[in-house]
Amino acid sequence: MFFIQLKELFKSYGSVTALNGLNLNVPKGSLYGLLGPNGAGKSTALRIICTLLAPDSGFVEVAGHNALLEEKETRRKLGYVAQEVAIDKILTGRELLTLQGNLYHLDKNYKKRRIEELIERLEMAEWIDRRCGSFSGGMKRRLDLASGLLHEPQLLILDEPTVGLDIESRSVIWGLLKELKNKETTILLSSHYLEEVDELADEMAIVDKGKVIANGKPDDLKRELGGDRVTLRVREFSNELEAESVKELIKNINGVSNVVINKKQGYSLNFLVRSNEVISNLTEHLSKENFEVFALAHSRPSLDDVYLQATGKTLMDAELELAGKRDFKLEKKNSMR
Ligand SMILES: Nc1ncnc2c1ncn2[C@@H]1O[C@H](COP(=O)(O)OP(=O)(O)OP(=O)(O)O)[C@@H](O)[C@H]1O
Ligand SMILES: [Mg+2]
Repeated sequence: MFFIQLKELFKSYGSVTALNGLNLNVPKGSLYGLLGPNGAGKSTALRIICTLLAPDSGFVEVAGHNALLEEKETRRKLGYVAQEVAIDKILTGRELLTLQGNLYHLDKNYKKRRIEELIERLEMAEWIDRRCGSFSGGMKRRLDLASGLLHEPQLLILDEPTVGLDIESRSVIWGLLKELKNKETTILLSSHYLEEVDELADEMAIVDKGKVIANGKPDDLKRELGGDRVTLRVREFSNELEAESVKELIKNINGVSNVVINKKQGYSLNFLVRSNEVISNLTEHLSKENFEVFALAHSRPSLDDVYLQATGKTLMDAELELAGKRDFKLEKKNSMR
């Protein structure tokens, strides 16, 4: 049974098409990961599921409700943690949670107990009585999560829950998500971190240009790539020209696919090979052309490779884009001062 069903969703903002026939089925009780480059439409899809935004057309079923017709009933079933949350600066964390509990119309005793539970579970006791204005990114994110979980929703929607967090905050949040998953809460999260999706998700989809371009269980998607990943260097520090010529040589070898040049790692080459035999063919081929193999590493494919295959981008490109976007925002903020 699917807890969320999206069928043929279309959504445009003026001339920008954000969703272009998006389909998604999230099984009940699963943790489902949405991956995709900036602007792919992830946040738009999540906001539609939460009834905060109406699609131009399409069908949305959430927890047995037609979310486009039964907004109230749908909202009651879910908790939503947005990508960027503006939290009050004057209130303390505890006051904010209490306020949120009042908005959900929670019973007084239940609300108090639930707030205590979440403070303990998300390790917030030390700082929860300070004003929110002084919180770090990780503290804010934990508070957001606690707000979204106050009413024990059956469905939790998280838009990039751990972006920019340190290892400790991230592991507190991961721990809680795993626990919730075991308690049959359905969780849908978007992320730019492949290792997050690999670690947590039962199923995942890669979204690009408003459509799902690959979906399934992470392990199945890796297996379907049908090969192993190889990193090759012909010299300790190569250059672009040399890397390009090696790329030209190997990309036409039978059984080699997805060849990309990794500038950040001394112009090494990353690619997939169908079998070990392909590797020995390849080294032979290279030495005929007077290229020596300086280093060659061979591993099982990872979600990076799945992502690359689907979107044509490496994870590093995606992360650089994301970092660029953050810097841009920061610049904008600073220039507004
Ligand atoms: N309120 C808005 N007004 C105009 N355009 C918008 C609005 N919100 C989103 N868009 C555009 O719709 C497209 C999809 O945006 P969306 O925020 O859903 O992407 P995303 O996958 O969440 O990206 P990111 O990874 O950067 O968060 C983008 O081209 C974006 O610029
Ligand atoms: Mg987004």
